[in-house]
Amino acid sequence: MWRLAARVLLGTKVHLVTRRLLAGAANLQCCWWRTARRTHTGYMSAGIRKVEAPDAEHLIRVQWEDGSESCYPCVWLRDNCQCPHCFLHSAKARKLLFEDLDVDIVAKEVTLTDRKKIFITWPDEHTSEYEAEWLKKRCFSEAARAEMREDLFLPEHQYWGSDLQLPKIPFEEIMYDDESAYKWLCTLKKMGVVLLTGAAARQGELVKLGHRIGFLRLTFYGLTWQVQDKADANNVAYTTGKLCFHTDYPVLQHPPGVQFLHCIKQTATGGESEIVDGFHAANKLKHQNPQAYQILTSTAVDYTDIGVDYCDFAVQGKQRIIDVDYRGQAVRINFNNATRDTVFDIPAEEVRPFYAALKEFNDLLNSTEHKFTFKLKPGDIVTFDNWRVLHGRKSYQSGSEVTRHLEGAYADWDVVMSRLRLLRKRVLNRD
Ligand SMILES: *[C@@H]1O[C@H](CO)[C@@H](O)[C@H](O)[C@H]1NC(C)=O
Ligand SMILES: *[C@@H]1O[C@H](CO)[C@@H](O)[C@H](O)[C@H]1NC(C)=O
Repeated sequence: MWRLAARVLLGTKVHLVTRRLLAGAANLQCCWWRTARRTHTGYMSAGIRKVEAPDAEHLIRVQWEDGSESCYPCVWLRDNCQCPHCFLHSAKARKLLFEDLDVDIVAKEVTLTDRKKIFITWPDEHTSEYEAEWLKKRCFSEAARAEMREDLFLPEHQYWGSDLQLPKIPFEEIMYDDESAYKWLCTLKKMGVVLLTGAAARQGELVKLGHRIGFLRLTFYGLTWQVQDKADANNVAYTTGKLCFHTDYPVLQHPPGVQFLHCIKQTATGGESEIVDGFHAANKLKHQNPQAYQILTSTAVDYTDIGVDYCDFAVQGKQRIIDVDYRGQAVRINFNNATRDTVFDIPAEEVRPFYAALKEFNDLLNSTEHKFTFKLKPGDIVTFDNWRVLHGRKSYQSGSEVTRHLEGAYADWDVVMSRLRLLRKRVLNRD
């Protein structure tokens, strides 16, 4: 159901209209959403025409007033009994112990009241009741599950190349306006990158941004870290050299999901930022050279990071360059040429094919068709999906004083998505 709302919120032309609507009377906002929800999902009008006793598969079949049907397994219904004995409403958590659950349980009696509720009596005389709307949302059909998945995780990505229209939102707006903050996070999830503009050109803005979403991710480089030319740099980022496309911190078991880079000072010549959509490039590789894709999605690469910063560290990790889901679709890129270890724990004969595959992937990332170049201005904060978007920078002149200074920070996707869901609830006034 979020898709409809987001399409309206994200479509720039329609957006202005919606924005006016939403900014208007609370009444109007409420009605607009109710209408959208009713037409899109029918949750609001969920009424039950008929409910059938369990069949041989222990499924209870519900016929809805709109003509559709849903099946619910008995064991799932018993497991999700919403009574205070089985469910702690204050914590929205299950109390029922798994050891007390009979996997083969069958409802003894099923009745419908008022077209709005189903009552079940279980063999031990325990009774459960389920609201129609609650059941409809949890329908096991493929379409209903896809809709719920979309609602909870916003899995849709819009791929881009050098033609990217970099989404921009004023920093002040996302800090003080929930609708702008919601739009920021939806766009970040969908496009993988959003530029926040007009922040103060001093350290500390990212800490404020962290409070806005919840909290930042602490790493061995501190809660925030300063990207500038440093003597005896403990990281290649802390030099004036060129940085090829990379994701940050693949040495960690759980690399940071979201990255923020706040420009405080920018050098006059050089130092441009480059970004590329890693999922888009991975898809290209999959079609162009399935074998190279297979190598990069299966070979565990050693990463290392040793030094001192927030405290001393000696981190070792293994990651595949491209992590995929059960469909073979890229879900995370873990590529950092700088921290890739000299130790390489694979058979010698597999090494050269691996390099060839990585070279081909890198050529796709670095192609003019795919990469997008821009230059950060003081006060800009680029926010991006560190699991998807690879970033780099062009070299710049070193000097006796610091001419370029970015402050960086990370956040986990769990924290960002949590804030997104809460903002959506508030903005769209839904339950
Ligand atoms: C990786 O590192 C090697 C050696 O330092 C360098 O020649 C190459 O350009 C780097 N490639 C990328 C994509 O970073
Ligand atoms: C990336 O492409 C640029 C030209 O756009 C080229 O000069 C550079 O050598 C390439 N780098 C790598 C690591 O392939």
